[in-house]
Amino acid sequence: MSTATPPTSNVRHWARKHAHNSVSDELALALYTRVKGAFVLSDPTLPDTPLVYVSPGFEKMSGYSAAECLGRNCRFLQGPETDQEEVRRIREAVEGKKAVSAHLLNFRKDGEPFINSLHIAPVHSASGSTKFFAGVQLDPGAFVDDSGIAIFRSWSNDVDERRSADFARNSVDLLRTSSHEHSDFPTKERRCHNAILGKIRVTVRTLDIAAMR
Ligand SMILES: Cc1cc2nc3c(=O)[nH]c(=O)nc-3n(C[C@H](O)[C@H](O)[C@H](O)COP(=O)(O)O)c2cc1C
Repeated sequence: MSTATPPTSNVRHWARKHAHNSVSDELALALYTRVKGAFVLSDPTLPDTPLVYVSPGFEKMSGYSAAECLGRNCRFLQGPETDQEEVRRIREAVEGKKAVSAHLLNFRKDGEPFINSLHIAPVHSASGSTKFFAGVQLDPGAFVDDSGIAIFRSWSNDVDERRSADFARNSVDLLRTSSHEHSDFPTKERRCHNAILGKIRVTVRTLDIAAMR
């Protein structure tokens, strides 16, 4: 299934459950201060797993404001040319509450295409149920240092010429080879994904446990 917008009933359902906030202000603040870059949280307990949090980095990357994203399934970034085999792999992983990585053709709000190096993983509550899915979006064309810090530059600064050229070349390579296996992901990229996901998981769990006290 890949509709551009979710059925209105999903949005209504989402709005009812998250009447006060998408996620608590406390969680949003903790995520904002602990995790830089483009990432999202979606709620698998709601129909069609809608987004309940998008980071400022995600707004910048996609061109959509948080208000335009919340309550929608993240597939709105895809287009007709997006590899349906990759989409199917993600769908099966999400249905099975498993982690998955993919390189996907996505489109910004202004229509500009980009390669999204996407890594998704379930975040469990203290009781073990799947509370959120966390998704980290990286630019596979960006330069990455060992700490994974530099990878964020592409979403936060203007892209210079040299990096644009590299981005274009890498994107073509990625599309040609495609990444049907998680192991195809460059090590640095995987390490960066995992580091961010780790921080998101810890933040969500810490607040979850604190809320239960
Ligand atoms: C946390 C999370 C983040 C996601 N981020 C993206 C994204 O940035 N771009 C994208 O094209 N799909 C993203 N997806 C995948 C879609 O939301 C959806 O799971 C995928 O299209 C497969 O389902 P469908 O076949 O029903 O569309 C994300 C999924 C989850 C759970």
